Amino acid sequence: MSRKVTKAVFPVAGMGTRFLPATKSIPKEIMTLVDQPLIQYAIDEARAAGIEEFIFVTSRGKSALEDYFDGAPVLEAALESKGKTKLLEALRKSDMDSGAIAYVRQREALGLGHAVWCARRLIGDEPFAVLLPDDVITGDVPCLEQMVDAYEQTGGCMVAAMEVPYEKTSSYGVLDIGEDHSSIVSVKAMVEKPPADQAPSNLAVIGRYILSPNVLENLNSMKIGAGGEIQLTDAIDAEISNGDGVFGYRFRGQRFDCSSKAGYLQATVAFGLARDDLRDEFATFLDDFIRMRDAAE
Ligand code: UTP
Repeated sequence: MSRKVTKAVFPVAGMGTRFLPATKSIPKEIMTLVDQPLIQYAIDEARAAGIEEFIFVTSRGKSALEDYFDGAPVLEAALESKGKTKLLEALRKSDMDSGAIAYVRQREALGLGHAVWCARRLIGDEPFAVLLPDDVITGDVPCLEQMVDAYEQTGGCMVAAMEVPYEKTSSYGVLDIGEDHSSIVSVKAMVEKPPADQAPSNLAVIGRYILSPNVLENLNSMKIGAGGEIQLTDAIDAEISNGDGVFGYRFRGQRFDCSSKAGYLQATVAFGLARDDLRDEFATFLDDFIRMRDAAE
């Protein structure tokens, strides 16, 4: 099977309950880090990795997400007539070619595995990437691009992996590691959300995957896993013995968990401080704020 990856699935059908009440009317993926929605960071990363077809698995209440990728001719004309070229450039990042994005619906939030399965007809019989937009990853080389390069050597299935404190393993899919070649590890088993004392390691799966189409067949069984959901981890785990192997990839970069409030705030600070146009003012504010808080204690 070819190891070229040109399709990516973005499962965005979750309810985002950790951000209620905001997510009652705003899809989580539209929330911004500085001035770009989370979904834009994921799209940019996928494009950098050579992805050409973008498949969104959406649900009720996500229309703001679909609108975000439409052309905006009136807005563009207004910016053009005022010579606002920088803003125009920023706006055009969100333009997607006609036909490059497809939307499929997940009728009920039955889990991440089920969401990916909903895209099966659009994926067909080729390897594909999955990106969870609430994991935002910074680094010199975008995470998925690193993985696409590594995947050319390994084939099979590949998951992004990162060491987490043992007390946090119960929030992640965790890898039982076979051979460890530093950035690439072979996987003996995957366990979804194990408590610390049952975790086979502290190497956790982060929201970037390159998967063989066999995973979609494994999902056909609709096996209910941890938390009563159809888990992607279980369908990948089944490939360890059936397929061409499963590999963890220790990516280079920093990951922000924007599905949690604390992670989202940390990302906001990091992205604010990374911006040339904001750094000085923002850093001064943070320094003063912390000094005043310490003085008040
Ligand atoms: P999460 O576990 O973070 O769930 O999903 P969530 O619904 O987004 O947020 P909380 O936990 O209620 O706050 C991880 C990813 O899987 C997608 C989500 O949209 C998110 O990108 N997902 C999850 C689906 O698309 N469908 C599902 O049934 C479950």
